Amino acid sequence: MKISIQNLTKVFPSRKKGGDPVTAVNDMCVEIPSGKLVGLLGPSGCGKSTSLFMLSGLEAPTSGRIYFDDLDVTDLAPERRGIGLVFQNYALYPHMTVEQNIMFPLQNMRIEKNICKERALDAAKLVQIEDLLARKPSELSGGQQQRVAIARALVKMPNVLLLDEPLSNLDARLRLQTREEIKRIQRETGITTVFVTHDQEEAMSICDIMVVMKKGVVQQIGAPQAIYDSPANLFVANFLGTPPINIFKGIIKDHKLFIGEEEIMDTEYADQEVFVGIRPEGFIYDPNGKLSLNVDHIEVMGRDKTVVSVHPSSQKPTIRSIIDSDISLPEAEVLKFNIKPNKIFLFNATSEVRLDLVEEEPAVQEENDKEEQLGILEE
Ligand SMILES: Nc1ncnc2c1ncn2[C@@H]1O[C@H](COP(=O)(O)OP(=O)(O)OP(=O)(O)O)[C@@H](O)[C@H]1O
Ligand SMILES: [Mg+2]
Repeated sequence: MKISIQNLTKVFPSRKKGGDPVTAVNDMCVEIPSGKLVGLLGPSGCGKSTSLFMLSGLEAPTSGRIYFDDLDVTDLAPERRGIGLVFQNYALYPHMTVEQNIMFPLQNMRIEKNICKERALDAAKLVQIEDLLARKPSELSGGQQQRVAIARALVKMPNVLLLDEPLSNLDARLRLQTREEIKRIQRETGITTVFVTHDQEEAMSICDIMVVMKKGVVQQIGAPQAIYDSPANLFVANFLGTPPINIFKGIIKDHKLFIGEEEIMDTEYADQEVFVGIRPEGFIYDPNGKLSLNVDHIEVMGRDKTVVSVHPSSQKPTIRSIIDSDISLPEAEVLKFNIKPNKIFLFNATSEVRLDLVEEEPAVQEENDKEEQLGILEE
């Protein structure tokens, strides 16, 4: 089932009396191909859950349309959309066994009891909890409870699976394991899945496509690696990657990029102030390198080491450069580096859009036209 989200907007009235309304989702347009695992990613409050609730039908959009394949589902009740939903708090029925919990969505569907049981068993097998069917939720670990919730969402054989931060109540190890499970289940069933998370690593590791959001507005859509390698703006560059990208204040003068006094590289762009993003893995140690960093300390990680340093033009307290552990670094207060060209990004200092995506300045001719028009008006 492919999903088409067209100009979806949700405005909530203010929770405070007399306050401004909140635009939780602003003109969202996303095409989700059939059978893909799509991550809705962004910081807290950016509108992920609201988007998911509109997909599920639990929340009505203020404007915009949602299509499942060619069917307009915007005004369709949740139970008629063929969706499976899993929330952050698994909301299992405590007095029911695992099997009864999983079968619950089939209850009103007039399906024969033994077929219900069969389907519950199939769903339980898919999430590998078939040995736990007789237990009550209180007798399960968090990860097991979450699997029951996923099995319950799958038992109706939905066309679309919607998951809202399904891993956030799990400890680190279980999170890792369960996210791989979700990927496996999604692959095995081929159900178009939308997975909400604020954890970029989680989204990067399992999603086919990521939708990065900020304050209700979609910032970028694409494959995880493509977005990482080619972030549309400073926010996206900053949001993806651990340790995060290093950001410097820079300036372009006569087609040369400067960070502070240091000339870093040639550039085709016009004179302007910029933000310079450099991925931690983008530093090449070179005694004659162009960027001098004041070393604070070096963290040895085994496979590589992280040089933690400072620079007067850095936007963050520290700069992190990841260096292969085979490369020996001298014990020095200042180390010099060159930058890998594909690991450095330039963003306009005002719009924060990546420079190669900024639209060309309007041609001089247009400016003249405007002046002429104004001239006519004045006359
Ligand atoms: N029922 C509501 N009434 C008023 N404002 C709401 C309502 N639901 C959500 N909002 C607001 O809409 C914005 C988006 O909320 P939403 O829950 O979609 O964010 P989120 O990305 O899921 O965040 P989180 O990661 O914290 O779950 C927030 O500013 C939130 O306060
Ligand atoms: Mg949420």
